[in-house]
Amino acid sequence: MSIAWTSRYALRTKAVKGSIIRELLKLTQRPEVISFAGGLPASDVFPIERFEEACKKVLEEHASVALQYGETEGYKPLRDMIARHLRRYGVKAEVENVLITSGSQQALDLIGKLLINPGDRVLVEAPTYLGALQAFNVYGTEYVSVPCDENGLRTDLLEAPLRLGPKFMYVLPNFQNPGGTTLSEDRRHALVSLANKYGIPIVEDDPYGQLRYEGEHLTPLVVLDRENSPGDGQYTVGNVIYLSTFSKTLAPGLRLGWIVAPRPVIAKLVELKQGADLHTSTFTQVLAYEIARGNFLDEHVKRIRSVYRERRDVMLQALKQYFPPEVTWTRPKGGLFLWVTLPEGMDANELFAEALKENVAFVPGDSFFASSDQNGHIGRHLRLNFSNARPEQIREGIRRLSVAVKAHLVDLHVVAP
Ligand SMILES: Cc1ncc(COP(=O)(O)O)c(C=O)c1O
Repeated sequence: MSIAWTSRYALRTKAVKGSIIRELLKLTQRPEVISFAGGLPASDVFPIERFEEACKKVLEEHASVALQYGETEGYKPLRDMIARHLRRYGVKAEVENVLITSGSQQALDLIGKLLINPGDRVLVEAPTYLGALQAFNVYGTEYVSVPCDENGLRTDLLEAPLRLGPKFMYVLPNFQNPGGTTLSEDRRHALVSLANKYGIPIVEDDPYGQLRYEGEHLTPLVVLDRENSPGDGQYTVGNVIYLSTFSKTLAPGLRLGWIVAPRPVIAKLVELKQGADLHTSTFTQVLAYEIARGNFLDEHVKRIRSVYRERRDVMLQALKQYFPPEVTWTRPKGGLFLWVTLPEGMDANELFAEALKENVAFVPGDSFFASSDQNGHIGRHLRLNFSNARPEQIREGIRRLSVAVKAHLVDLHVVAP
């Protein structure tokens, strides 16, 4: 008898959908397409020679550790390096506060596993990171969305949703994916004090904080929170779980991220991670440590910043040159993305089909919204990635996109032909 597999799937699988971005990426693989769709770092900045040297060293000098099972918490020298790095930014983390994960994406899944019961509400930004929605959906999550503007999450709109008692807030303060926006200093203070007032934890996802192209570094929420908490010198309390990753500073293929949290929270996450994968690949952890050590990572990040800053500037300049005045966009101070808003009546999904005919691709914005109730204009946005195409491709891609946009505007009689 052949098994009807779908009737065997657990109820939780009903809430799971594949990522539209992965499907779109397949459509955009044709070589003639200039794609602003993925969130990919530029492969031409991967430090390949340093990887080669480090691989050799790891196998010659550390093979017995690198090829063996390891602690669930992660490779201690790497955790220590991360804790030291974070202390430079005022995070009072010790090695015991750091858990290495298989990318930040696994961190999001573990946090879902740790905190979400079916029917629990999670407060998210509108728009928010699609991968977080995918990670949380499987746990039967309901969402409360709060809009963002150019200064990030609208903290002035938070009190009413917080009174609904969400389980936690998921926030991207730096160069948000997809919006490209950054939470302002005063909103950071407001957010942390509201979390404190209502006793609602914050999950601070910060993959892009190192990729700032202008302006001053802003204080992470986890630091502001520690200022508020009484502090026992050991970081055993606090309202914030902080996440980051090597994906955008070294290489996403490493699949290395980390969680920073009060010690008891880390201990519980370690138990959950044991069931998921025992530990993150020891080989890639030792490798990343050998690559990053000394001053290498700092120097490498400076190089990435200058490459991406130029690409951002080229994209902003091309948008200004080619796009009609009815269209607006964000001006990110860092990260990999900017967010375009089309005039009322236009639909980014329809535009996507037309853009593909012009051999240019982007991600329509609606998949970045947890629920459609908060924002009547979700169909009008597109996310553009500027890290993965070379400057001349960016200029040409935006020109092609402007052709599709203008044709669509004329079709809708938003502008005269
Ligand atoms: C906001 C955000 N969180 C998490 C991730 C996942 O990163 P990782 O490659 O570390 O799993 C990404 C990747 O694009 C992201 O943009």
